[in-house]
Amino acid sequence: MNVEAIRRDFPIFQRTVRNGSRLIYLDSGATAQKPRSVIGAEETFYFNHNAAVHRGAHLLAEEAEASYESSRSNIATFLNADPEEVIFTKSATESLNGIAYSLSNSLRMSKSDEILVTEMEHHANLIPWQQLAKRMGAVLRYVPITSEGRLDLSQLDSLLTERTKVFAFTHQSNVLGTINPVKELTRKAHALGSLVILDACQSLPHMPIDVQKLDIDFLAFSGHKVLGPTGIGVLWGRKSILDNLEPFIFGGSMIESVTMESATWAPTPRRFEAGVPNMAGAVGLSAAIDYLNGVDMSRLGEHLDSLTSYALERLGEMDGVTVYGPQSMEDRGATISFALDGIHPHDVGQVLDQHGIAVRTGHHCAWPLMKRFGIAGTVRASLYLYNGSDDIDALVEAIRGAQSFFSVKS
Ligand code: ALA
Repeated sequence: MNVEAIRRDFPIFQRTVRNGSRLIYLDSGATAQKPRSVIGAEETFYFNHNAAVHRGAHLLAEEAEASYESSRSNIATFLNADPEEVIFTKSATESLNGIAYSLSNSLRMSKSDEILVTEMEHHANLIPWQQLAKRMGAVLRYVPITSEGRLDLSQLDSLLTERTKVFAFTHQSNVLGTINPVKELTRKAHALGSLVILDACQSLPHMPIDVQKLDIDFLAFSGHKVLGPTGIGVLWGRKSILDNLEPFIFGGSMIESVTMESATWAPTPRRFEAGVPNMAGAVGLSAAIDYLNGVDMSRLGEHLDSLTSYALERLGEMDGVTVYGPQSMEDRGATISFALDGIHPHDVGQVLDQHGIAVRTGHHCAWPLMKRFGIAGTVRASLYLYNGSDDIDALVEAIRGAQSFFSVKS
């Protein structure tokens, strides 16, 4: 991939950061930078077509609706799904909370029923299920992880049982980069009658995802991690299930009929999109999908694999550096968490920042995972299409700088 050409598509790489150095952005797991086409698509929407969808009887409303609905179709094609199964939300967090809430109104659960998650979940795919378990009087269980940061599947048969009603797990860990075996887990869950909810926040930006092939029931992702705008997310769900679920927010544009006493709901997906939606955000997200299609998701995956492999090799050669998570490229994505002996991750982050390198430090919204490793936090480098081997070399140099600044032998 031509990283230099890609960087030119992202206006933010034209700026300089500390000490006039170039921006080395290794924090795409938190949020990705935006290509000009995404920023332009939002601008075009506001400049030319802004109107409230599903309500107006005028030209702008018609155009806004056409843009919004064609964005939905574009995202559906990207997922190999039906457009009616694509629900716009404000974030992946809202998607996961929403589906947990809707299920609590629809599932009949008892004290012997169980919800299964994993020890590597981001809080957004843990706390909604804790809350659901509390509301329903059900039991929350989790699949533990091995010291290499993979799911410990030796315990799966005792955890995923006929009592499991929901199995919610991440496709790719936002901390360790571990890629979980979705098809295998889904096959087992379905054989036992459990629903499967996939958090695809970290995987969808990096690999082609086909919801039919994965055979899952629900999938959540956020727009801003996939080159799109903030404030827009997606909940994908099987139509046959969505059609029988209660909405999770109520208000305008999601109804079929209303009296002073009660209401009935519009068909899926509108029943889940109360209020004037983030139309410009949906259009921007669609432009992000176009950009990724232009790059080709398979080529992008290869680029990230080779970059991650290079980073693991360089970090592996250094003394005093511990990488958490899979050490090989097998079922591993472009997220690399590490710690330096004797230096707090926040201090490392500050030194890297002085070198113009942006990383995330801390617990990464995954406290139970930190507890599993007995650490307070890590430094996380998360890579994307605009990163090249020059960024990894700069990271290694800056780590040496941190080690020498804090007088740790490197
Ligand atoms: N969930 C995002 C991350 O892992 C914000 O950084």
